[in-house]
Amino acid sequence: MNPIDIINKYYRSGSRAYEILIRHSKQVTRKALDAAKKVPQLNPDLDFIKEAAMLHDIGIFLTNTHELGCKGKMPYICHGYLGREILEKIGLQRHALVCERHIGVGITTEDIKNYALPLPKRDMLPVSIEEQIICFADKFFSKNRDSLKKEKSVEDIKQYLKPYGLEKVKRFQSWVDMFMG
Ligand SMILES: [Fe+2]
Repeated sequence: MNPIDIINKYYRSGSRAYEILIRHSKQVTRKALDAAKKVPQLNPDLDFIKEAAMLHDIGIFLTNTHELGCKGKMPYICHGYLGREILEKIGLQRHALVCERHIGVGITTEDIKNYALPLPKRDMLPVSIEEQIICFADKFFSKNRDSLKKEKSVEDIKQYLKPYGLEKVKRFQSWVDMFMG
């Protein structure tokens, strides 16, 4: 399976959204493969990571995020579960879960209630090692133009997670220990 062929079905090649999506997804793929190398004992599926990291944000075009060239109707935070729906329709159930479970360091039903998030009420936490690796790698790269190129520092990411609770920061740190150690 070539993830670019799938992206091409939903994005016009050369469009702003397409360029941003491809660049971001390649950055995340590279970081995810680096992370996977740190945990050979857990046998992460590298071919799956390559595909799923390229597809994890496929749902963004359905959101109303003009700075990313996305002119859909839904709030940005919905791009995870919307991506899941897209990939499930074409039979990629396992990749679909990566889409749904990569927002922040994972979202719980409690988070959805507490912050009144516009999401289906279910846990959206990365479970498999591949889901965890891709969620982790994604945190290092913004899709905004100004910060598109450079990788965020671990400290920056922790500061960003802090308002969502110490549990989030701790989960991220546990990944730092696993995937960067
Ligand atoms: Fe995303």
